[in-house]
Amino acid sequence: MNTLTKSLTGLGLGAALTLTAGTAMAAGGGGCGTFTNADGVEESLACSSAPIDFTNKGSLQNGAKLFMNYCAGCHSAEFVRHSRIAKDLDIPPELVEKYLMVTTDQIGDFINPEIDPEIQASWFGAAPPDLTMVNRLRGDDWVYTYLLSFYEDPSRPWGANNLVLENAAMPHVLHNMQESLSQEEFESEVGDLVNYMAWMGEPVRHDRKVIGFFVILFLLVLLIPVYLLNKEFWKDVK
Ligand code: HEC
Repeated sequence: MNTLTKSLTGLGLGAALTLTAGTAMAAGGGGCGTFTNADGVEESLACSSAPIDFTNKGSLQNGAKLFMNYCAGCHSAEFVRHSRIAKDLDIPPELVEKYLMVTTDQIGDFINPEIDPEIQASWFGAAPPDLTMVNRLRGDDWVYTYLLSFYEDPSRPWGANNLVLENAAMPHVLHNMQESLSQEEFESEVGDLVNYMAWMGEPVRHDRKVIGFFVILFLLVLLIPVYLLNKEFWKDVK
């Protein structure tokens, strides 16, 4: 095998490995924890699959609305500017200013309730972490399953516990929403919320995959002339 063919094979292998690693990471891994069933037996909880679709602007917009209304009062998303939400999610800036800015009046500001984490920790027992990257840290499916897994537990300070994150310090903030909707509707709302959270963690995720596809396609097409050229160059040498 000559050097040119070798390096091309190397390139292809590298690309394949990168793609595989990317898929493995996107899958989250790690499962969604364990719980003790009614018979006292420990069972592992399978993650539900989050409906992530960055091309669905309606879902992302609804998710942004839910996030601002239900989550931004406690959690920051320190790396997301309100103006970026307007731009990327196709929401007119006036509407973002009117409905989606719950923690500031400057559209260029990041999402941050500006509450001292120590004070929050004294309220809840743990400080609410920043949520910009939580989907990348935990996986989309983990976050989706977590938000769907609150259950009543009178022994907890807020009357709720969570199957995925045992003894979570977070109250079941979507309780009223869950009560007023059917299970299917509730899952769809939480799906939109998690879709939006995935967007916060990596706004270019969709574009990156599309670009990646065309780059690999380009390399494959390029392989044809390069192969022919290689044959041409070496034909008199042997
Ligand atoms: C009343 C304050 C409060 C509100 C409102 C709130 N949370 Fe939380 N959240 C917390 C606290 C406190 C924790 C830390 C839980 C722990 O570590 O036990 C937490 C933890 C989390 C975690 C787990 C992070 C991790 O990796 O451990 C996620 C995900 C999360 N919240 C998402 C949300 C979403 C989405 C919303 C809006 C629907 C929301 N939270 C609304 C207080 C809040």
